[in-house]
Amino acid sequence: MQKLIVNGGKRLRGELKLQGSKNSSLPIMAAAILCGEECRLDNCPELTDIYSAARILNGLGCKCRFSDNTAVIDSADINVTEIPEKLMREMRSSIIFMGAILGRTGECTVSMPGGCELGSRPIDMHISAMRRMGVDIRENHGKIICRAVSGKAHGAKISLQFPSVGAPETIILCAVTADGETVINNAAREPEICDLCGFLRACGAEISGDGESRIVIKGKNRLHGCEYRIMPDRIAGATYLAMTAATGGEIILTDACVAETEPFISVLEQTGCSIITYDDRIYLRSGSRLRAVRDRIRTMPHPGFPTDAQAVIMAALVTADGTSVFEENIFDCRYRHTDALVKMGADIQVLRKIAVVKGVPELHGANIEATDLRGGAAMAAAALAAEGVSEISGIFHIDRGYEKIENAVRLLGGDMRRV
Ligand code: EPU
Repeated sequence: MQKLIVNGGKRLRGELKLQGSKNSSLPIMAAAILCGEECRLDNCPELTDIYSAARILNGLGCKCRFSDNTAVIDSADINVTEIPEKLMREMRSSIIFMGAILGRTGECTVSMPGGCELGSRPIDMHISAMRRMGVDIRENHGKIICRAVSGKAHGAKISLQFPSVGAPETIILCAVTADGETVINNAAREPEICDLCGFLRACGAEISGDGESRIVIKGKNRLHGCEYRIMPDRIAGATYLAMTAATGGEIILTDACVAETEPFISVLEQTGCSIITYDDRIYLRSGSRLRAVRDRIRTMPHPGFPTDAQAVIMAALVTADGTSVFEENIFDCRYRHTDALVKMGADIQVLRKIAVVKGVPELHGANIEATDLRGGAAMAAAALAAEGVSEISGIFHIDRGYEKIENAVRLLGGDMRRV
């Protein structure tokens, strides 16, 4: 098992080109199934979750290959409609393929998806939406067997009980080639949903309202292939900004998505960091000690503070001057990184959805284990800020979302290596 060895206490300083977004690449790769032709996805990050998506596509009969952050997917010859359980378990996004396979073939067999353990992560909204679109769904020995009753899904009006990200993605994928019009109410407004819709429009789909809570999709008989550039990864961006802030450093992030990162930036600014944005660049300079954030940091659907950035900003705030309070509203088990931070000297009290972080003067290095993707990134940020050496195991979690994190950190002058 690989580990990251981090020799902390060095200020990060330099320029970093941001990777493409994992959370928009995954549904877009699924969407390529609907085109029946070759698609070229530029700025696609090369990550273990992306390779899982490629294995799913290849298993269905697509041809998917990568070179230099470009994924080329040819879905002309789909001849399988079942995703094996082993592949379903590799990540949460495997469930989104259900919408795309149904849209292309009218049937599919999946099972419960895997992914980071952040508490209970049901798929009830995905399933009930497919049913409303005319899909018969039965469970048999863990397999979820789906078949459009009339051979093809039809449009429907669907009101989600929570502004989920994944459920509207599944619905959109099924709806773009369904019969008639689909309306999704209470959809999440996450930029990655807009990126998926941007890709689908480039393939000939008719979608409006993405980025708002009401999305309207008019079904088309056929889509076609296209070339598309994946948006930058706003959460990886937030992570490198938080790491730099935690170490008292200075960074220019290039190829960043400024507007989409604003909910994070506005909180980070309260810590006393100077942040200047210009075109696709974010410049951050951090003072010697951060200030605690006075307003409670409440995770919310976009444009609220992103749950995916909660752990990394906490890693920066554990050594801030004063007390910061977090409220995690999206997942019921997203404070699993706090034990490792406490082991490094942090003062954190967790009570259900609240975490109270009292800033301590410094952290010390420790042997810690990543528990999930963003929690692992938070541990890496804390290790960079800590005095002494840390050893982080379980880094396969981190590799799911960060492209060669140790190279990015080393480029900024940090001391992190993989052994
Ligand atoms: N939920 C249900 N039923 C459903 C679907 C969701 O109850 O059918 C609940 C979830 O349990 C959760 C809430 O609704 O409490 C929000 O879940 P959502 O569907 O929005 O999350 P997701 O689509 O599974 C995506 C990202 C996550 C990110 C969340 C929230 C991808 C691949 N994953 O997950 O990213 O945290 O939206 O923004 O896009 C990560 O990158 O580390 C990550 C976990």
